[in-house]
Amino acid sequence: MPTGRDALPALRAGFTCYLRRVERAFPALPDLLGDACRWLGLPPGSMTAEIFCSSGESGVAMHSDFDVNFAFLLSGRKRWKLAENTSIVNQTSMCFAGDRTQPDPAQLGYADHPFPVTMPADATEVTVEGGGLVFVPRGWWHETYSSGDCLQLNLVIKGPYWVNVLGSALKNHLLADPGWRGYAYGIAGEGSRREEAVETFAGLLAGLRGTLLSEDPRALAERLLAELDAETLTTGSTRQSAQRADR
Ligand SMILES: [Fe+2]
Repeated sequence: MPTGRDALPALRAGFTCYLRRVERAFPALPDLLGDACRWLGLPPGSMTAEIFCSSGESGVAMHSDFDVNFAFLLSGRKRWKLAENTSIVNQTSMCFAGDRTQPDPAQLGYADHPFPVTMPADATEVTVEGGGLVFVPRGWWHETYSSGDCLQLNLVIKGPYWVNVLGSALKNHLLADPGWRGYAYGIAGEGSRREEAVETFAGLLAGLRGTLLSEDPRALAERLLAELDAETLTTGSTRQSAQRADR
């Protein structure tokens, strides 16, 4: 929904509404999130705040999230079912129960086992009221049943993943080389155009052997981290959050 006003009919119809990046609207939240990031040793901007609200009987169907959630229920009453996810380790997008279409089918490829179609029988059940906090570890299956006027503030850790760290660090490093700054003409071409592109790319990759890949991993890790600026990593985290739009 483009605005809160547009979402009101859905709220009145019993849907659980989900508001992202609410730290932009509440001046106290950026400081709180900044403190939490420092405490966890994460770059600034790695955490965000979200609100879940509903009126009357509502709830969210079984799913698991790629991020880590501290869910503070400010008002209303919410019953949670929570269970460890033994199908997939470190998912990178939201996953639904196994009988539903997945928002990101790539997650099925990362999984070791098929997803369950209902909450596992050993799920923990807990009911919280205003003032209660539920910690949802990354990837845990959960479903919720809300009643009353529920308002819940989530403080959420969005990353970065190690692959973001490597990707950002490599990009930072390679941009200093004019060859890597060149246009990738031919990568979507055919025949000799494509062949030329593969040759160019292979030459650039070969150059890494004598530089990055020949370095001691410990020294390389320290150097790449020292070269990284926190803002680059934060941009990666923000991209991840966009994947949750339909939760
Ligand atoms: Fe969730």
